[in-house]
Amino acid sequence: MTEAVGLRTDYCGELVAADADRRVSVCGWVARRREHGEHLAFVDLRDHTGIVQCVVDGSVDVRSEHVLRITGTVRLRPEGTINPNLPTGEVEVGDCTVEVLSAAEPPPFPLDQRADDVDEMVRLRYRYLDLRRDRMQRNLRIRSRVNSAIRAAMERQGFIEVETPMLMPSTPEGAREFLVPSRQSPGEFYALPQSPQLYKQLLMVGGVDRYFQIARCLRDEDLRADRQYEFMQLDAEASFVTQDDVLAFISEAVLDAAEAVTGDRPAAIERMTWQHAMDTYGTDKPDLRFGMELVELTPIFAATEFNAFKASSIKGIKVPGGAADYGRNKLDALTDRAKSLGAKGLVWLKVEEAGALASPVAKFLSEDEQGALVAAFGAEPGDLLLLVADEWTRTVEVLGTLRNDLGRPPVHDGPYRYVWVIDFPLFVGVDDQGTPKPGHHPFCHPHPEDVAKLETDPMGVRALAYDLVLNGWELGSGSIRIHEPALQQRVFDLLGIDEAEANKRFGFFLTPFRYGAPPHGGFAFGIDRLTAILAGEENIREVIAFPKPQSGTDPMTGAPTAVDAAQLTELGLRVLPPGNVE
Ligand code: AMO
Ligand code: AMP
Repeated sequence: MTEAVGLRTDYCGELVAADADRRVSVCGWVARRREHGEHLAFVDLRDHTGIVQCVVDGSVDVRSEHVLRITGTVRLRPEGTINPNLPTGEVEVGDCTVEVLSAAEPPPFPLDQRADDVDEMVRLRYRYLDLRRDRMQRNLRIRSRVNSAIRAAMERQGFIEVETPMLMPSTPEGAREFLVPSRQSPGEFYALPQSPQLYKQLLMVGGVDRYFQIARCLRDEDLRADRQYEFMQLDAEASFVTQDDVLAFISEAVLDAAEAVTGDRPAAIERMTWQHAMDTYGTDKPDLRFGMELVELTPIFAATEFNAFKASSIKGIKVPGGAADYGRNKLDALTDRAKSLGAKGLVWLKVEEAGALASPVAKFLSEDEQGALVAAFGAEPGDLLLLVADEWTRTVEVLGTLRNDLGRPPVHDGPYRYVWVIDFPLFVGVDDQGTPKPGHHPFCHPHPEDVAKLETDPMGVRALAYDLVLNGWELGSGSIRIHEPALQQRVFDLLGIDEAEANKRFGFFLTPFRYGAPPHGGFAFGIDRLTAILAGEENIREVIAFPKPQSGTDPMTGAPTAVDAAQLTELGLRVLPPGNVE
């Protein structure tokens, strides 16, 4: 309970039977007014703690969302009028003096759970009203608890909070940046930080040892349920640490935050290699709340006659009891979905009595193949099997997506399954010239066991890079960084960046490493994402006070807006007419 001061003695939602006979003052908004006979009215007064019923004189002129101070006496409600659904349902405030602190126009939508069905653009246009609702109040308070738990956990572990600049040079890596024109240097631009990555590494060179920041990051990307232009990270970096140390201190912060919100401390976070995650779940963001793991079938079809299965990787998933649910239309839709994901096709088989298989392709599979298939899945009559044959990456990615399509619960449905995915590959795929592309970013340290094969088998090199995943959402990423200039140049060489090019693109970042850089590593996780899941929300917008809708324009402020010609001139800018913008 919080101590009420100022104009009030108590908060609305905290009055209980034990307060009976106390004279109290409460302040808040009129949630509802009901007439009671000729002379009395019930006013439900709401503040951020909840609602209390006040019995006022019928002549008092108060309506929805008027702001009031009510002074009265708490009394037990008469038998039969107790509301068990309301924390204050045993009491009411009677003998009231009502002061109207502010009048209010009728709100554009009801400020209770009915607003959940109101068009989101309307909610965001009147966000200041939407925020008065229970759900939003709760979410903002959860978010605040997450932030303080994180801050406390990091400080307890010897990290200090350091702010890094919002105005920085444009850097060519990663997401699209927001640019800020410079008035002093017309024609030149700052970029807003996608993350404090470069600065936090320079803090390590600067001897800070253990840094953290609850950092605002900006990325000009398409907005989605888990993406905003601006978002918050717990960003951290530490010197003279191993990967295990980083996982341990980030786990501490995440588990503390989870405990602060839910009251339960999750178990120690399990780990799995990237290879295992891809092989078993077909994604580097495995959702461990449900089964349907990918089953390896390649050896079964090593000598197959079936052309579609003459491929380097064959895997499948089992939909337990799914045979009856999937008629021809649904199976065709699944096949189309698989093809839209890049598969050449999708084989489906329904398991019947005695392990017989019903499928258009069953006739192409030998008896041995069919038997081995049923055994590999541990399949029972009534199960549906879905198989894809392709090169490994495509096979696992297609099946991983189908697995999520068919089995994945909403992100916030319990239980919470956190998992560290470690040993990401240093490079993922190659560009048109056959040059490897960095898996995370070019500054990740190769796995010490794999450094020797950097030049001979680059695609087989693992990185000391790791992600934290919760219920199929990527919460965060990090790595041990390269601190040795010579090793950094070896990685750049593989990426097709020679020394001159590297200095041109990242010189300001590379030079400091020649002056004595400690080994270091770190991590960042999305506070919006963690808070959304812990608050039981599907969309990070619900845990952000003033988010942008999908379109990126803010219906409340109108941002982005045109600016005066004079402002542009001062910045040395001229806007192209529409149509000339690519
Ligand atoms: P990364 O780019 O993976 O790593 O970002 C880390 C986490 O930030 C969150 N996040 C977002 N949240 C909301 N909206 C967005 N547009 C958005 N983009 C990212 C995610 C993501 O997992 N500097 C590195 C970390 C490091 O190596 O230390 C980085 O930023 O939860
Ligand atoms: P086709 O031989 O192309 O007529 O395909 C026969 C069946 O196998 C169809 O149901 C296809 O969807 C399926 N199929 C074809 N190629 C593949 C593949 N690479 N992986 C899984 N199923 C496939």
